Amino acid sequence: MINLVDYKNERQYKTVFFETFGCQMNKLDAELSLGLLQEDGYSIVDKVEEADVILYNTCSVRQHAEDKVYSHLGALRTLKKKHPDVIIGVLGCMAQKDAQSIFKRMPHVDLVCGTRMFTRLPELLLKIRNHGNHVLAVDEDEIVDVKRIAAYRPNVYQAFVTVMRGCDNYCSYCIVPYVRGREVSRTIADVEREVLELVSNGCREITLLGQNINSYGKSLPGNITLGDLLIELNGIEKLERLRFVTSHPKDMSRDLIRTMSQLDKACEYLHMPAQSGSDRILKKMHRGYTAGYYRELIQYARDLMPTIKVAGDFIVGFPGETEEDFQETVCLMEDIRFQNSFIFKYSTRTGTKAAELTDDVPDEIKKKRNTTLLDLQKKISLEENKKLIGRKLQVLVEGASKSDPNKLSGRTRQNNIVVFKGQPALVGTLVDITINEATDLTLFGTI
Ligand code: 5AD
Ligand code: SF4
Repeated sequence: MINLVDYKNERQYKTVFFETFGCQMNKLDAELSLGLLQEDGYSIVDKVEEADVILYNTCSVRQHAEDKVYSHLGALRTLKKKHPDVIIGVLGCMAQKDAQSIFKRMPHVDLVCGTRMFTRLPELLLKIRNHGNHVLAVDEDEIVDVKRIAAYRPNVYQAFVTVMRGCDNYCSYCIVPYVRGREVSRTIADVEREVLELVSNGCREITLLGQNINSYGKSLPGNITLGDLLIELNGIEKLERLRFVTSHPKDMSRDLIRTMSQLDKACEYLHMPAQSGSDRILKKMHRGYTAGYYRELIQYARDLMPTIKVAGDFIVGFPGETEEDFQETVCLMEDIRFQNSFIFKYSTRTGTKAAELTDDVPDEIKKKRNTTLLDLQKKISLEENKKLIGRKLQVLVEGASKSDPNKLSGRTRQNNIVVFKGQPALVGTLVDITINEATDLTLFGTI
C-alpha cells in the first residue's frame, strides 16, 4: 500500500499526453481517467514531447486499431532513450488482451493497464516512479467504480454514462467478451446518482452506454431491466433527453420499444447493429436472429415511433460470405434505410470462434463490398435528410460548429447534426430549427 504522505510529496510527473482509440466507452473511460489524473495534479498536453506521462487507451476490435497503437509505441523508442524518466503506458482492450507480451515487444513501455484498472492510474504511475518500470495491472475481477469529477467534463450539456460493462454474447467474430469480461450492471440508484450530479452541473442529454445495453440488469437481483432504468431517469427534472447504445437485436425486447415510445425524454433513436443481411452468415456469427426478425423489430419501432432513426453496423467479408450473402446485406440496408451505418471489413481476432474459420474473402473483395455499402449508405442518408427540408426540428445546442465557428451546432432527438446561425447564449438550450438544406451528414437551418 502506498503511504499517502509520500504519495503527495513525491508527485513529480505533472503533464500527461492521452490518446484514445475505439468505441464510445473507451472515450468515456479516457474522460474519467483524465478527471482522476487532473484531480491528482496532472495537466493535459497535446504533444508527446511535452509530456511526463504518455498514455494510449487502446482498442482490439480490429487488427488495424492495434497496428496503429504498436506503430505509435514504436515511434516513442527514441524519445524514451533520450528521456528515460518519461512514463509510457498502454491502457484498455489491447492491454487486457496482450498483457505481458506488450513488454516483450515494446520493452520501453512502463505500464500495461487493463480495462478494469484505469481507476487506479494515479497509484500505478506512482508505483512506476518509485519502483521502476514494467507494471502490469490486468486484474479480471476488479469492479470498475469511479467517482466522476464533473468539473473536468469537456461538454457540459451532453454526457455519456456507463451503465454496464462487458458482454456475455460471444458473437463469433468479436474479441470484446474476452477483453471486457462478463456483463456487470450498475444499480439504478448508482446510475441515477451520477446522472443527477451531471444534470445539476448543467447536463441536458444523457446517453447510457453498454456493450450490450439491452442486457442491462441481468447481473442485478430482482429482474431489473433497461426499461426500469429509463423510467427512473425520465423522472429527473431538467434532464431533457435520454439515449442508450448499443442495442443487440436478439436482446431488444418489444417491451423496451414500448417503454421508449411512452417516455417523453427517450429519444427516437436506436443504434442497433445488424452486421449482415444473410441468415446463413448471421448464424455463423452466432447473432441469434434472422434478417427477417430484424426487419420486424424495426417495423414495430416505427409503428410506435414514426420519426425514429436507426443507425447500424455491418461487417463485410466474414468467412464464407458469398456474393449472394452480400447482396442480402445490400437488400437489408435498402429496406431499413438506416440514418447512418458503420461498415467494417472482417478482421480475424485470435481466440474467437470465427478465428477457427478460414478468412477466405480476399481483401480486394472486402474493400469492394465495403465501398458498395458506404456509397449506398451515403445515398440513403442524403435522401432521408432531404426529406427533412421544410420541417421544424427540436435541437439541443452543443456549441460552435466545427466547420464554421460563426455558426452553432446541435443535435435533433433523432441524432441528426444541425448547423445554424445563432447567439452563443443559446448553447445548452433547446431551440426549434427549420431545416432548409441537407447533406448526407448534416442538416442546415434557421431558428
Ligand atoms: N472484424 C470487423 N469488425 C468487427 N466488429 C467487431 N468485431 C469485428 C471484427 N472481428 C465490428 C462490429 C461491431 C463494431 C463495434 O465493430 O460491427 O458492431
Ligand atoms: Fe461483441 Fe457481439 Fe458483444 Fe457486441 S454483442 S460486444 S459484437 S460479442
